[in-house]
Amino acid sequence: MKVAIMGFGTIGSGVYKVLTTNEDVIAKRVGEKLEVAYVLDRRQFPGEPWEQLVVDDYNIIANDPSVDIVVETMGGVEPAYTFVKAMLEHGKHVTTSNKALVADKGADLIKTARDNNVNFLFEASVGGGIPIIRPILECLTGDVIEEISGIVNGTTNYIMTKMTEDGSEFEDVLKEAQELGYAEKDPTADIEGHDAQRKIAILTSLICGQQVEYTDIPTEGISNISSNDIKYAKAIGRNIKLLATSTATGDTYVARVAPYLLAPEHPLFAVNDVFNAIFVHGNMLGDGMFYGSGAGSLPTASAVVGDIVEMARHKDENIFLEWKPEKKVLADASVVESAFFARTKSSKSDVEGAFGKVEFVEGIVDGEVGFVTDVMTEADYESKAAALDIVKMIRVR
Ligand code: HSE
Repeated sequence: MKVAIMGFGTIGSGVYKVLTTNEDVIAKRVGEKLEVAYVLDRRQFPGEPWEQLVVDDYNIIANDPSVDIVVETMGGVEPAYTFVKAMLEHGKHVTTSNKALVADKGADLIKTARDNNVNFLFEASVGGGIPIIRPILECLTGDVIEEISGIVNGTTNYIMTKMTEDGSEFEDVLKEAQELGYAEKDPTADIEGHDAQRKIAILTSLICGQQVEYTDIPTEGISNISSNDIKYAKAIGRNIKLLATSTATGDTYVARVAPYLLAPEHPLFAVNDVFNAIFVHGNMLGDGMFYGSGAGSLPTASAVVGDIVEMARHKDENIFLEWKPEKKVLADASVVESAFFARTKSSKSDVEGAFGKVEFVEGIVDGEVGFVTDVMTEADYESKAAALDIVKMIRVR
């Protein structure tokens, strides 16, 4: 079977490496050899083994009937969407690692694949190399998933881990992460939570079978977490982690991306460095955790190749996947109950006047106190906190 790779950057070149390094074992698992027939890229790659495979027009791939499977590792919504749609309409299976494309056009491309009796798979779009999408769709298909919460961004988890270990400031760790190649030159999508927002939108769409718009998910990043916040976290025995979380409420879900203070008992407390983990609570399963390498060339390519093999095994068959285009309206996140940690310049008596009995944390920063509230709704917290001079609020789990 012939495979084309569109976009030969970090992930696309990783897919080539996985397919060539593990060629024999993959051939055994598919039942025939997989051959990379095309690489779509604007660059030429002179002297590289794949030099002769390079084309710069996606129509060459779309119009070649010998190509069965196409990999999309270009990133971004356009032109990836146009190219992927054309491949599906030409009867080719497509797998992608592109979370922006899946979050925005997932329902559309799944329908296009079904209409053309091919498949559109996207295991690598969430959690990199961690199997999470097929486990949800297949192994856990007998469950109602009541919660899915994860550390789904390696860059921010690395930064939070280093800030916790070294007591350093956000800007310094970000710079170091960029020098090590862990963070992008433009890190906005990671540090402001936009990458995690798309990933939790995809996971929520899959567990409810409808389109969840990522823009409906309230999102905060980690760029305003400081070394003082980390000191407070340590004083109350917690770690700060960027979580992407979605919980069933009534017949819908409530979702959020934000930094959370996690207790040591929380399953995501000890997920460190660039690792990702996704916690799932099913009404029959109870708790489950998926942990591993959530980013990087070969881990992500490993998941893409898993999709290639799956599609090669279902060459003449559409694997049913429920993701209807009708929008799922999410619940208002202000109804969610949690405890809240806050730093304030107001007095302890003013804090108690507003919140009643709280747990105070003192002596971390001159001229302020920290406190942890009882469990209440976010709307309740906001109305009580309005009477105080709040420096920072972080949700507690
Ligand atoms: N920038 C992403 C991360 C890559 O840091 O997790 C994987 O989607």
